[in-house]
Amino acid sequence: MKPDPMQKIVLVAGTRPNFVKVAPLWRAFSQRENVEVVLIHTGQHYDEAMSRVFFDDLGLPEPAFNLNAGGKSHARQTAAIMERFDEVMDQIRPDDVVVVGDVNSTLACSLVAVKRGIRTSHVEAGLRSFDRAMPEEINRLATDAIADLLFVSEPSGLKNLQREGVAEDKIHFVGNVMIDSLVYAQESIRTSRALESLRLKEREYVLMTLHRPSNVDDSVRLQQVMDWIMGLSLRIPVVLPLHPRTLSNLEKSGSDLVKMRSEYPNLKITAPRGYIDFQRLLKGARMVVTDSGGLQEETTWLGIPCVTLRENTERPVTIDQGTNFLAGSSLKEASGMVDRFLNGGMTINDKPDLWDGRAAERIAKIIVDGG
Ligand code: UD1
Repeated sequence: MKPDPMQKIVLVAGTRPNFVKVAPLWRAFSQRENVEVVLIHTGQHYDEAMSRVFFDDLGLPEPAFNLNAGGKSHARQTAAIMERFDEVMDQIRPDDVVVVGDVNSTLACSLVAVKRGIRTSHVEAGLRSFDRAMPEEINRLATDAIADLLFVSEPSGLKNLQREGVAEDKIHFVGNVMIDSLVYAQESIRTSRALESLRLKEREYVLMTLHRPSNVDDSVRLQQVMDWIMGLSLRIPVVLPLHPRTLSNLEKSGSDLVKMRSEYPNLKITAPRGYIDFQRLLKGARMVVTDSGGLQEETTWLGIPCVTLRENTERPVTIDQGTNFLAGSSLKEASGMVDRFLNGGMTINDKPDLWDGRAAERIAKIIVDGG
């Protein structure tokens, strides 16, 4: 008997949060017989601390191709990824392309794949912030409009796609692959020495991350946020691992990080952390202040209070059922929320439906077995 032909599946990752999302998919596809998985890194994130260390921490193999298309403006970056991904598609000729999240790499590769007639799956489909000033919202809308299979992580995603008139048979509610990674890594996270290395005590610090253009691209806004963080560090240690975009904007605006560190010894500004160490910092934090999408979900799963410095969220389940609170752009509002949690205010959370560590398995079942 002739063996079944191999199903070739290309998995695309470009940025730090993408690596976290593709790792469980990589495992789920690799475990299948008659499936060949080809991992492609677009190179959108290229710093060692934003990329290499994540491959190591998440047990991802060396990508088969690196398109080295990082840096540059959105249009140039998207165009460079498209051009190089198209060439690689000629070589691989896959049956499926799977993209995750809402970054420029997600849109660029899905456009190329769909135009080539390759079945294209979008993991984390249907999320909407309803704010078209966010580059991610454009990436989400455009990717969902063209992809063949849409894998949804929370109920709002289903509602949004239905409202947009997407055919029911394209949509699959499967849960959250980012949480798959968190569940999988629990044992390594437990043994991480991240707290000791920064001389922090369990529940006695705030973990903060900032990288959205709305908070860090305007120098006046960035300075206001930094002043607020410095003030907060007089009350409780604050850990702030700096995203390259934030670091570069601080440097451009003439901020003196050395002086900041010496005047505010409880403000621990660090390089970006690897996945395991960051998750350890998250698990031990009293609370989180962020503008990240993924952190809103991870704090909800862990039951840690999270104040989000954004006007909106595309992940409303983290508010309805989780521990997330939107402060908008008002630092006064954020201060009130932070006070409440530092003074012992509790949050009650439910783990959202299907955030159980098995989303990638469900996706593989649909893509490989057809249901
Ligand atoms: C991107 C995503 C954002 C995601 C974030 C996670 C888009 C539109 N945005 O934002 O949704 O939340 O990743 O981190 O895709 N840079 C480096 N080293 C790196 C990566 C970037 O120095 O490893 C620099 C780039 O050269 C650029 C800036 O940081 O100047 C921004 O990088 P870019 O990938 O365009 O967007 P992010 O802000 O990282």
